[in-house]
Amino acid sequence: MLSIRPLKHAPRSAVDFGVTIDNIDLENLTDDDFAIIRDALYNHHLILFKNLPNLSPKAQYELTKRFDPSSEAYGHDKTCSHDMHKFFMGVPDQPQVQIKGHGFVDSFMGLHNIKLWHPHHRNSHREVIPEDKSDAYTRFNRWHIDAALYDLNPPKVTTLMAVKVPQGRRQTVLYDDGSGEELDASLATTAFISGENMFNMLSPQDQEFVRTSKAEYAPHPFNWCKPAKVHPTGLSIYTEGLEMPESELPPIDPSKIQILPMAWKNPVTGKLSLQVHPSAIRKIHLEDGSIIDNLKQVRDVIYCLQRPAISPQYVYAHDWEEGDMVLFNNHGVLHTVVGSLRPDDIRIFRQCNLAGSEPPEGP
Ligand SMILES: [Fe+2]
Repeated sequence: MLSIRPLKHAPRSAVDFGVTIDNIDLENLTDDDFAIIRDALYNHHLILFKNLPNLSPKAQYELTKRFDPSSEAYGHDKTCSHDMHKFFMGVPDQPQVQIKGHGFVDSFMGLHNIKLWHPHHRNSHREVIPEDKSDAYTRFNRWHIDAALYDLNPPKVTTLMAVKVPQGRRQTVLYDDGSGEELDASLATTAFISGENMFNMLSPQDQEFVRTSKAEYAPHPFNWCKPAKVHPTGLSIYTEGLEMPESELPPIDPSKIQILPMAWKNPVTGKLSLQVHPSAIRKIHLEDGSIIDNLKQVRDVIYCLQRPAISPQYVYAHDWEEGDMVLFNNHGVLHTVVGSLRPDDIRIFRQCNLAGSEPPEGP
């Protein structure tokens, strides 16, 4: 019998975030069971399924697709320049399911001798934790929504499954923004925050601003922002003129540039989440038709809106066990990878999200 229970170690101050669902057959998912999952997801934003070491990539894909049946393609733009392609590797029989992780893997799902790359903050952040402290301390990598934010619509949900989890030590995530805040986390955790909680924490004036403003994202945003350095909280990037000039980006089709609401509406509860990708945003369109296009100002505004909601009491840092699968509402959650892995740490995850069949719904 399917059962729903509160999430162990749910964030202390983000109300109703996350549930665990037990005893569900995801290989043969019935319409009734899916209706329960969908309702739970949109009321709690994140669902943890335990003990699924043998879940097929097909079942993972089909659960993901069921939230947006006419979606088909993987949710990210894989035509990136630079070395970002190394983060994209599909399961051969189910290419929408991507393999993520860290380390050298002899054989996995028909692939052989593969090298996986867990992002390390030393490659992206300006303030790097010294090597001799990097076993004990780490950073949030980049808070984000799973979305290309150019051409493709943001996926509605993401499923993320732990196949192999590195063990043996915990790490402290340092905020290093003058707040003194820090977060105890398992090695290579994924941290999640509720966009609904983020919206609810705003003043009435800021809520009105968010309700009535839109975020314009850069063309090829992840190529564009890649050279810029990430803030120690992982929530913003420094404005130092390091973004890639448009002349060096892949060809730009202006019709593919995305201008999205800042507040995305939950399809079940009608509640709003503050959903802005803090690294990819380039401009803010205001209700009166004017545009904030000063990049530092844009980032400062978004940082002020988002920063309160990443304090430790609002963060869910999932303590992965092998066989866990997390399903999260990508229209109501921001998340980030965490952790500083050694070269010999092995991490294997399976991730699936599908480019949305429609843009997110605004207020
Ligand atoms: Fe992600």
